[in-house]
Amino acid sequence: MHIKTIIYSSDDKFFSVLKKLTVMHEAILIKDFPLDNTVLIHLASQLGDLSRTGVGEKRSNLENEIIHRISNVKSLNDPYGFEILSTTAKPFLLHTDCFFSAKRVKFVILHCWIPSKIGGDSLLSSVVEVINQLSDHSLKKLQTNLIYTPYGKTSILFNGINGYGIRYNQYEINKFAITLGVSYDNEVIALLDYLDDVVESVSRSLKLDRKDCLIVHNERCLHGRTKFPTCEHRLLKRIRVNAP
Ligand SMILES: [Fe+2]
Repeated sequence: MHIKTIIYSSDDKFFSVLKKLTVMHEAILIKDFPLDNTVLIHLASQLGDLSRTGVGEKRSNLENEIIHRISNVKSLNDPYGFEILSTTAKPFLLHTDCFFSAKRVKFVILHCWIPSKIGGDSLLSSVVEVINQLSDHSLKKLQTNLIYTPYGKTSILFNGINGYGIRYNQYEINKFAITLGVSYDNEVIALLDYLDDVVESVSRSLKLDRKDCLIVHNERCLHGRTKFPTCEHRLLKRIRVNAP
């Protein structure tokens, strides 16, 4: 998993270069990104329309009405009563964001304000590397509509303009199976366990430093994080960009 690293610059050329890089790379790390919410919003706006998933809900932990605070200060539940893992210090398996949203999310942007001294490492897996490891049978099966969602059944892998794309969040799949009152047969359960193993086997970890800003292509790269002690004051700020 290659992560393209660049240094922040405030000139307009920086954003035009960045836009080109987002086409070529699955993950981009911007070093020395200003600790300033308006700069973060400007960056995200350059990449597309801002996602409003979770915005305007009581449970949101927002700044500037659009930036989500990712910290373990206040553990929150979603409307179905399930814990929102990003508001805890627990590990978060590799996943893509907004798996069950009707609106697709193209980029997840994570800006580190306070790194965790112990744990809390970011994890990334490239969909290309995942696909290279999958058996032919599993690759075929994962492109069929086998996952229940509130909008009907959907596949995990799909063919996008630039090759394969992925939408996958095991925690959400299990959560919605309970809320929708459905269950998966043993073959699907084994397939998802196998996918988790493959995704983890090709993952790489990355320790975000203060002022690091990580842009993840949400359909070409899965992200997750390791657990960290609850006494840590780790703070990331997250903003998402919709697919066109
Ligand atoms: Fe996420």
